[in-house]
Amino acid sequence: MAQIIKAFRLAYVDFYAKDAAKMVDYYTKTMGYRVTEEREGVTYLSNALDHHNIVITPSTEKGIRRYGYQLDGKLSLEEVLAELHIKGISASIKEGEKPGVAKLIELQDPAGNTLELFTEIEQSKVGYGSSGILPHKLGHIAFYAKNFQETIEFYQQALGFEFTDQIGVGFANFLTCNTDHHVINIVASDETRLHHIAFQLKDASHQYASSDVLAKHGYPVLWGPSRHTAGHNIATYHHDPDKNVVELYTDMDVLIPELGIFEPRPWHEELPMKPKVWEALSAWGTEFNVDLAKI
Ligand SMILES: [Fe+2]
Repeated sequence: MAQIIKAFRLAYVDFYAKDAAKMVDYYTKTMGYRVTEEREGVTYLSNALDHHNIVITPSTEKGIRRYGYQLDGKLSLEEVLAELHIKGISASIKEGEKPGVAKLIELQDPAGNTLELFTEIEQSKVGYGSSGILPHKLGHIAFYAKNFQETIEFYQQALGFEFTDQIGVGFANFLTCNTDHHVINIVASDETRLHHIAFQLKDASHQYASSDVLAKHGYPVLWGPSRHTAGHNIATYHHDPDKNVVELYTDMDVLIPELGIFEPRPWHEELPMKPKVWEALSAWGTEFNVDLAKI
């Protein structure tokens, strides 16, 4: 009988950075992350507890280098590797190649993203920062994906993600590996690249305080705040120094997997709120004034 590989969180995102110094400055002074290690020009930054949640690697390109997902640990990495091979997925174990993560499995999803799967990550020991936005956590990633349908099925069948919502048909699908409405948002495209990276805030007061911090540091809000339809998160979007789109959000729907519904909220259009197909992006009717596809 097939054994179940279960990811339960997006733990870290490694960026290629055209302006690595500015990206590190942004993540420390504006976002409030702390540097835990610098090795061979690569900077490792922590939100609070993990050795790293963001990695900045200098490059001539911008964008994502790789994503790190933590597994539930019920299977050893050797058992996970064997299961991936049974599913016909090419993957290999790497040891001692990355600070903070002694052992991991490296593989690619059908869109061509490089993923790292691991069970253990070192603690950072530095705790929360004391200034800047200080998000609760790295919440989700949205990416344009070639092989759209195949990529959705990969996350569901290989890594234990669940479908939660979609916008349109064959346009954007939301998947989760925990109780957050989405941990990944996959947008159909003929190329694979980052759409946006998102960080969870505490509440609405944190949301507008974060806009003050962004303004103070010269990062204007591109869109929002507005409440999304899929996920019902209140979101704002801005650019980091490399022009990656960054979302700050709060109030995201909470999935009850056993019931296949989201915890009831006063702003839900239906009770019970179940995964569905949405037509619009904003529950408040505030249309996006930024075409993220052209960035
Ligand atoms: Fe998002």
